[in-house]
Amino acid sequence: MANQADQQREQWGSKIGFILAAAGSAVGLGNIWKFPYVTGTNGGGAFVLIYVLMVACIGFSVMLAELVIGRRAQLNAVGSFAKIKGGAWPMVGWLGLACGFLILSYYGVVGGWTIKYILHSFTGLMEIAGAGKAGDAFGGFISNPVMVVVYQALFMFATIWVVYRGVGEGIERYCKVLMPALFILLIILIGRAVTLDGAAAGIEFYLKPDFSKVNSGTVLAALGQAFFSLSLGMGCMITYGSYLQKDVSLPTAAAQVCFLDTLVALLAGLVVFPAVFAFGVEPGAGPGLTFITLPGIFAKMPGGMIWSALFFLLLFVAALTSAISLLEVACSYFIDKGWSRAKAAWTMGTLIFLLGIPSAISLGGGLKIAGKDFIDAAGFMTDQIMMPIGGLLICVFVGWVIKDIAKEELTNGGKMPIFAGFDAWVVFVKFVAPLSILYIFITGLKW
Ligand code: TRP
Repeated sequence: MANQADQQREQWGSKIGFILAAAGSAVGLGNIWKFPYVTGTNGGGAFVLIYVLMVACIGFSVMLAELVIGRRAQLNAVGSFAKIKGGAWPMVGWLGLACGFLILSYYGVVGGWTIKYILHSFTGLMEIAGAGKAGDAFGGFISNPVMVVVYQALFMFATIWVVYRGVGEGIERYCKVLMPALFILLIILIGRAVTLDGAAAGIEFYLKPDFSKVNSGTVLAALGQAFFSLSLGMGCMITYGSYLQKDVSLPTAAAQVCFLDTLVALLAGLVVFPAVFAFGVEPGAGPGLTFITLPGIFAKMPGGMIWSALFFLLLFVAALTSAISLLEVACSYFIDKGWSRAKAAWTMGTLIFLLGIPSAISLGGGLKIAGKDFIDAAGFMTDQIMMPIGGLLICVFVGWVIKDIAKEELTNGGKMPIFAGFDAWVVFVKFVAPLSILYIFITGLKW
């Protein structure tokens, strides 16, 4: 996406380009870092089941709603609401912008960890992990605030650079190769993980639902994770939809992205949990879970160093394609307002980096807000408050306020037949999704 504010608005090069970009946004640290650790802290199998239900029932509906808004308006998240309806609705876009800021602030911190681990693969990570000390090594790293901030800065620099240069040429091309590579690597790692001694207990924890561990908080966590992983509730898919050609079927695109994203998350769990149990790690260990267990797996593979570096490199790329989409939400707004792409990317990126510093130093230094580590507090705010509220309002907007416009958009002004599930989707965006979100939110919200 080069800077063409004064020309015709940019579009994705091809349909597959959009699917890749949207899947690139969705598939990221949320799948491989966050999904396993949130599953671990929420009791395992039952959470996984609820999560999949949330994606299918609510996630898909919200994603389609966002794409409809964006493609209709052909504008950024704030501008889209203003153009289609006006009134107070652009506030939803502003909420999204704020949410994107906050997500990327801590996302950049974890993105930095991936860079650290690429390098560390060659500098002793295998020996440490082989000796069962991966947990200590991780703890040591995150409690060194200077290094964590340095890596965070590197990651943010890469993100800003790509957004500034434009997503179209470079990143789309790399994604076509690197995303399938990540997928294949995950499959290979599953093969290694499930054959570890003691892996069976992990598979059972991960796949056998134990509903005694479910409470209202679990359901809200699953909803929040679904929004996070699918990049929903804050205007990201509105922004991406705004670059989409009119003849693309939005329901198909939404379904493909939901499916791919969920598949990658489920596969990641199948790597992490067998290892969690085989190595005697606590499943509820929290944000370090993936970074503690995976090196242990690599250490048990011939050429582990290479596997490890390759894996963290691919994870870095997956994180980068997601981070880009987060930065793009704010940049798109300012570019539509007439800023240059360079100014928008550097200004927003730098502010977000600064906002992330408290998260970066919170894990080691114990920087807390009302008892939670800063980074957990930020995650809580975005996943369990801002994104559900954003998603709720997006459903209300599409289902109640602009239903007819949505129908017109989905048929490309009557040129395409309406998709088979349209009536069901309307019921979901009008009633099922908003009411469920509201209920889950009210019952499950606790600090
Ligand atoms: N979905 C991404 C991941 O799983 C993160 C992300 C990108 C995101 N864009 C977003 C999360 C917008 C919420 C909203 O890593």
